[in-house]
Amino acid sequence: MKLIKIINSIVIIILSLSILLILGSVSIKLTTNYNDNENLILASKILLIIGIILFSLSIVEIILAFILQKVKNKKKVNINRVDKKEKNMENYKLYNGILIPKIGLGTWQSAYDDCYNACLCALKCGYRHIDTALVYENEGAVGKALEDSGLKREEVFITTKLPAEFKGYEITKEKFNESLKNLKTDYIDLYLIHAPWPWSDQGGNYEEGNIESWKAMIELYNEGKIKAIGVSNFNKEQIEALIKATGVKPMVNQIRYFIGNTQDEITKYCQENDILVEAYSPLATGELLSKDILNNIAKKYNTTISQVCLDFCLKNNTLPLPKSIHEERIIDNLTIKIDLKEEDMEELNKLYHIGSTRKYRS
Ligand SMILES: NC(=O)c1ccc[n+]([C@@H]2O[C@H](COP(=O)([O-])OP(=O)(O)OC[C@H]3O[C@@H](n4cnc5c(N)ncnc54)[C@H](OP(=O)(O)O)[C@@H]3O)[C@@H](O)[C@H]2O)c1
Repeated sequence: MKLIKIINSIVIIILSLSILLILGSVSIKLTTNYNDNENLILASKILLIIGIILFSLSIVEIILAFILQKVKNKKKVNINRVDKKEKNMENYKLYNGILIPKIGLGTWQSAYDDCYNACLCALKCGYRHIDTALVYENEGAVGKALEDSGLKREEVFITTKLPAEFKGYEITKEKFNESLKNLKTDYIDLYLIHAPWPWSDQGGNYEEGNIESWKAMIELYNEGKIKAIGVSNFNKEQIEALIKATGVKPMVNQIRYFIGNTQDEITKYCQENDILVEAYSPLATGELLSKDILNNIAKKYNTTISQVCLDFCLKNNTLPLPKSIHEERIIDNLTIKIDLKEEDMEELNKLYHIGSTRKYRS
């Protein structure tokens, strides 16, 4: 906290000055026969009075700094105020037996410092799952927050992604090692191919490159450097090409999924084939938060629109990855108290394109 640092510096200066003045006053008294000199008596008294005033001032400032520190600590305690029972700490189980916490913190568009603070706050209030990517340029912040959280590496599930632009065996290993280094870890819980095509060529055919990347990921998985492997933004044909070439099915497909944009075909295919669907942009990157129809439902349940959106994902057996850099929202997104009724789920599942109609987001 900058204010406390400034106050501390002022206290040190004033305290030193007051001690100097008091010492000055005492030394005048001791070293001079000042009884004969009225000017010296006056100077000594003035020095003493100013010294005492400054000394008192520094005491007041010390008390002020102490109070500010307390307020700061209280804020820290707030982060931990989430009751254990409230936390959504349940897991999904991937088909290879790996457990994955049902809600993860998204970090796309979180600048390095914001990402660090958000991750640290999230880990302190109970999140055990963070979603990042090499292209988000914040893996380092995630790694540092994990280190500073005091949690053990194995207590936190970390997902990162091979950039969509890089396809091929060697480059996949290279980029994977870059992520490991950034995250200061020796394994990744979930490693995904970020997209089937580079963002500059959406819809292009990169089957061969994806298969080569997938082979590298399978090797890293077999070496124990990745606990689960998957894809993102893949359709049925793109997934089947990987399976056909290697015999290994992705454990996860992370897709853009929110109320009104449930990508039914690929979701159905994944869920029927035991591939977990992760819902990225579960709030439509914030667009759903201003929808009247959702506000009415939130009011009915006396909760926030965000909770409606996230419970919707959970009720449809997908794993939401809400992103926020604000403490209250981070907590709100984990402590889902709402339990949407079947009739409301039916209505919400019927909605179509109430948020952005764009299918993909980088
Ligand atoms: N695989 C992919 O291709 C891909 C693509 C896109 C996203 N993702 C992943 O999915 C994550 C989430 O998606 P997203 O970043 O598009 O956004 P999102 O989670 O759908 O929405 C985030 C927006 O909503 C706000 N917000 C969050 N919680 C809120 C709350 N409780 N109340 C009010 N406002 C709230 C955030 O603001 P503040 O941050 O200011 O609080 C931010 O503006 C990403 O961060 C990323 O990890 C993956």
